Amino acid sequence: MQHLIPIASGKGGVGKTLLAANLGIALAQQKKTVVLVDLDLGGSNLHTVLGIRNRHAGIGHFIYKQAESLEQLLVETAQSQLYFIPGDGLFSGTANLPYYRKLAIIKQLQELPADFVLLDLGSGTAYNTIDLFLTSPAGLIVTTPDTTAILNAYSFLKSSMLRLLQRSFPARSEERRIVLDFLHQKVEGEERDIGTVLESIRTVDRESGDTADAALETFRPRVVMNMGRSAQDIRLGGRLRHVVRNNLNSDVEFIAYLPQDDLASRSPLERSPTLLRYPDSAYAQAVHTCAARIIHDPSPGMPPLYNDDEDLRELAQQFPLDRDGITR
Ligand SMILES: Nc1ncnc2c1ncn2[C@@H]1O[C@H](COP(=O)(O)OP(=O)(O)O)[C@@H](O)[C@H]1O
Ligand SMILES: [Mg+2]
Repeated sequence: MQHLIPIASGKGGVGKTLLAANLGIALAQQKKTVVLVDLDLGGSNLHTVLGIRNRHAGIGHFIYKQAESLEQLLVETAQSQLYFIPGDGLFSGTANLPYYRKLAIIKQLQELPADFVLLDLGSGTAYNTIDLFLTSPAGLIVTTPDTTAILNAYSFLKSSMLRLLQRSFPARSEERRIVLDFLHQKVEGEERDIGTVLESIRTVDRESGDTADAALETFRPRVVMNMGRSAQDIRLGGRLRHVVRNNLNSDVEFIAYLPQDDLASRSPLERSPTLLRYPDSAYAQAVHTCAARIIHDPSPGMPPLYNDDEDLRELAQQFPLDRDGITR
């Protein structure tokens, strides 16, 4: 069975692309067939992190119908069993993805013959990014332990859930209007929780209420805390869980804790993925742990019921953290 794993974030520069490349390698090293797809349209750079020259046809060729299938765009990488579909680097300004091409891309992604298909997405809450993220219940959201990144991760989760609700009802329906009103509300300093939206939908029609509940139940993104440095990170992760619980009636699961590591940031400059160049680095070790968890539990099933921060704390135990930073 193929698993599609979109990798998203609210804020840019939090490490999605570096993770996509290295997670792909880690999964391939466990004898899984993996396809990495660069879907950061307008900002594609996954090839650089993989150390592949920007001269291959990619998603841009598919969008502009110069390629008939995604499969024909597959490029081999330095890691056996790891394949790559480049972004739109040879076409500038593809960020505007036409609706029918988006549907065609999603359909073909779901049919790629691989164990894992990892999508490196652009940052932020653009509709296209969210729709690509929602192609799978098993997406990863990357954040760093700083307040802006955490708040942006929260916004991304909220926008994704509202988009999922919106898509569950026909255009011009009352239910959709309720969702859109909530999405566009600008009440300063006050954040209504998603429960009020679900209640309003249920008031329109009981069956619609059930439809909405069912849509949200399938949505279980997992969070990667990247560039970890100190014991404070765990508190910040707990804060994300808290606002998601309070405002979105949902639970996040932390699937990885990746340390800030100079070897990780150095390797792209050396045009070589961290796992191949610095296999013993702290970052590489943490990515292997993440890959093992994904292989063990490729699609999140039951809602995780973690108390406060115990999952993140457990993941971070791999690293000796203190208040000021990682002590090595
Ligand atoms: N754990 C880490 N330790 C050190 N540097 C990192 C780490 N994760 C990412 N980086 C660096 O941070 C920068 C942004 O990462 P990138 O993967 O391009 O982010 P994104 O794709 O989310 O915009 C890059 O220079 C990358 O090498
Ligand atoms: Mg990126």
